[in-house]
Amino acid sequence: MAPEPITRRSLLRRGAGAAALASGALGVDPALAAAGDWRLGFESLRKETRIGRLHVEGRLPAWLSGTLVRNGPALYEVGERTFNHWFDGLGMLHAFTLERGRVGYANRFLRSSAYEAWKKEGIIRYSEFATDPCREIFNGAQATFSLAKRPNANVHVGRLAQHFVALTEVGMPVRFDPKTLRTLGLAGPELPLGQMETVHPHRLEGGRRIYYEIPLVPPTSYQVKLARGLRKPQRIAQIPREKPAYMHSFGLTERHVVLTESPFVVDPLKIITNWEPFIRNYRWEPSRGANFWVIDRRSGKVTRLEADPLFTFHHVNAFERDGKIHLDLCGYDDADVIDALYLERLRGRRRPSPLAELRRYELDLGRKRVRMRQLAEPTLELPRINYARVNGRPYRYAYGISVRDYRTSGYVDQLVKVDVRKGDSKVWREKGCYPGEAVFVPSPHPRREDDGVALSVVLDARRRRSFLLVLDARSFTEIARAEVPHHIPYGFHGELFRA
Ligand code: CO
Repeated sequence: MAPEPITRRSLLRRGAGAAALASGALGVDPALAAAGDWRLGFESLRKETRIGRLHVEGRLPAWLSGTLVRNGPALYEVGERTFNHWFDGLGMLHAFTLERGRVGYANRFLRSSAYEAWKKEGIIRYSEFATDPCREIFNGAQATFSLAKRPNANVHVGRLAQHFVALTEVGMPVRFDPKTLRTLGLAGPELPLGQMETVHPHRLEGGRRIYYEIPLVPPTSYQVKLARGLRKPQRIAQIPREKPAYMHSFGLTERHVVLTESPFVVDPLKIITNWEPFIRNYRWEPSRGANFWVIDRRSGKVTRLEADPLFTFHHVNAFERDGKIHLDLCGYDDADVIDALYLERLRGRRRPSPLAELRRYELDLGRKRVRMRQLAEPTLELPRINYARVNGRPYRYAYGISVRDYRTSGYVDQLVKVDVRKGDSKVWREKGCYPGEAVFVPSPHPRREDDGVALSVVLDARRRRSFLLVLDARSFTEIARAEVPHHIPYGFHGELFRA
């Protein structure tokens, strides 16, 4: 017998109730929604809303004000097709406005070229991280690079000069209004085709930032740059590489920039001629090992240190002590994590591969030696620190998402605060709840590094809703939560913007 199509009536007959109906209206698979399953976080959210005041449980600190803007994919189905990978989905911004103990919420899709093509034509017109455009649009050469005027900037948000911008690795920053979440246009002139840039630049005083660019059209290299606002950047170093690696972030100390080069590399000639989306051009070549490229911020002098193969998305922090660079990152043994994040796997019954370890690499520049150790027991990803106070300096605390035990839990099911000096950790978890990145916000007159709060958007799969969780960063216990009347698909990064 053919399965019965899911209609309002059949749902009611099944007794799935109003919540399932509501989630059905939002495009959530009702069966999934009813199960209280973590996979709900990989289902699309189509509806744009604006809610003046959310119900708040507990009490927010009176000093906590600003707008927490979170970015991430929210729509995976376009016409007859579904994007391949978690990183491909159409970007949506979520804004939690915090003021005098009250919380407002709004969400809006980024008006990217990909969004317009979905709305007007119902097709995938542009290449994303791991998804091709429709075959008829495919033009072979340069298909890897999105030819979109306005990229699907679904990864991070930040400030660039006076602008608020949504960020992606393969396209220009897209400006948005943090109050209305309206998309305003590109920030600055268009990037040259086929250039990759980090969404995790390091911010310095005076509105300056350090970042890297990787032109993927030959001749390829890693280029480290220093810029103020939208002004022409100054190049600190250029490291020619025939096969550049995929990189997502980097480390910064008071004296050095550190690029972590994993053996997950691309042949730039193939990237131009291959009919493959961006990440499918990269190959894991462990025999190459890994390299740490250490660049003197003043002189631009480059030192290379070799290490065993590793893969990382996120650096946590870096600092110098006793003539060594201590580089903390969320490390994997290989790049399999990228394959584990294909939607088919995330939505399937197979468990995702384990999350990253919190690792410290000690780089001895004199002896050109690298030593690695694990800093703490729990897995950790999407790391955050008290950035303004400790970035580039000795520090004590890292906050992140984590998995308690893959045998009993299918997905990220806890937040952790790790004391990197002692190696112990504090945990927040709640049954049926799946948290996102925890953004640390310092209190107004902090005495200690961890005086402040950690803000995370958590999916409560059993209630089929997400909520903003406010943790006291010191004790890592809940102060307050504010629930949204729908689920928020798992996102990547966010920032609290203060007026
Ligand atoms: Co990131």
